[in-house]
Amino acid sequence: MSELYSISKKIISTGKGILAADESTATMTKRLNAVKVPSTPENRLLFRETLLSSQSMKNCIGGVILYDETVKQIASNKKTIPELISSTGAVPGIKVDTGAKVLANSKDEKITEGLDGLRDRLKEYYKLGARFTKWRAVYVISDKFPSKLSIHTNAHALARYAALVQETGMVPIVEPEVLMDGEHNAQDCFVKTSEVLKKCYDELILNKVDLKGTILKPNMILPGSISKEKMECRKVAELTLKCLKESVPSEVPGIAFLSGGQTEKEATENLNEINKLNNTDFIMTYSYGRALQQSALKFWSKNIKDINGTQNTFNHRANMCSLAAQGKWTEEIENK
Ligand code: 13P
Repeated sequence: MSELYSISKKIISTGKGILAADESTATMTKRLNAVKVPSTPENRLLFRETLLSSQSMKNCIGGVILYDETVKQIASNKKTIPELISSTGAVPGIKVDTGAKVLANSKDEKITEGLDGLRDRLKEYYKLGARFTKWRAVYVISDKFPSKLSIHTNAHALARYAALVQETGMVPIVEPEVLMDGEHNAQDCFVKTSEVLKKCYDELILNKVDLKGTILKPNMILPGSISKEKMECRKVAELTLKCLKESVPSEVPGIAFLSGGQTEKEATENLNEINKLNNTDFIMTYSYGRALQQSALKFWSKNIKDINGTQNTFNHRANMCSLAAQGKWTEEIENK
């Protein structure tokens, strides 16, 4: 178990966070199509290898979450992608769920699948170099959702996943994402997220998961994406901290937020404010996908051969996130 504690500490130690580069092929195709780049295995590898060879990997990125395709790919220097990541000092990780599917008897909600055969897949990923994993559950907010059924079934799956991951000697990232989509206000998000988190921890404890060897990846407490409510980052930080303090057991070493559709700057500013006000013992950092990669992807799509330019764009974003993870980000540094 002490091995697990040191892995989780290494991933989220001061100023470091996680690069979530684990888009499934379908999601990555959507992202590449949006910037008019053909989604081939070579292009997906090229973009990811460009980021993973960036200078900011050393100081800003403690862990990288990969998808099944990427964990098996070979970089241009003949190293495997997990070897490339390890050579920067970061820890390779892997998404192990097989996606969110329609929940039987509640067709507007989703249940995350992937438990069947998971024990064997985990052993294979361990051999490939992965030392932490991710499983994402998704919840929608409306007047009747998330339902008790969705909250219960997803928490159960997350807990069974986490127990198997620890058995294999890896750190599970537990990701219950209450989606930003919708017109709900931040108070609704607070109430539903609290309920979701509490149920997850009930199930994790029931399944004897050692919480010290886990990382939580939650959403921040925000108004819905089409809500009329506007909220300052100070209020977002206060509500997010209150929710996590009340719902997450203190043994959990760290919390690495998803960006969930916030812009790069919003995700940075909100994380910075959370760290400025952090009155908990949790390390608060980032596990961003879009909020770390968006600008770099846009730049790369127009200058596919310009490795340095793409890396500079990524380095800037990673540095801003790293400062935010220490409460040291400012608008001035952002625009320098
Ligand atoms: P975003 O930061 O783009 O929400 O992605 C994080 C993630 O890994 C979602 O599962």
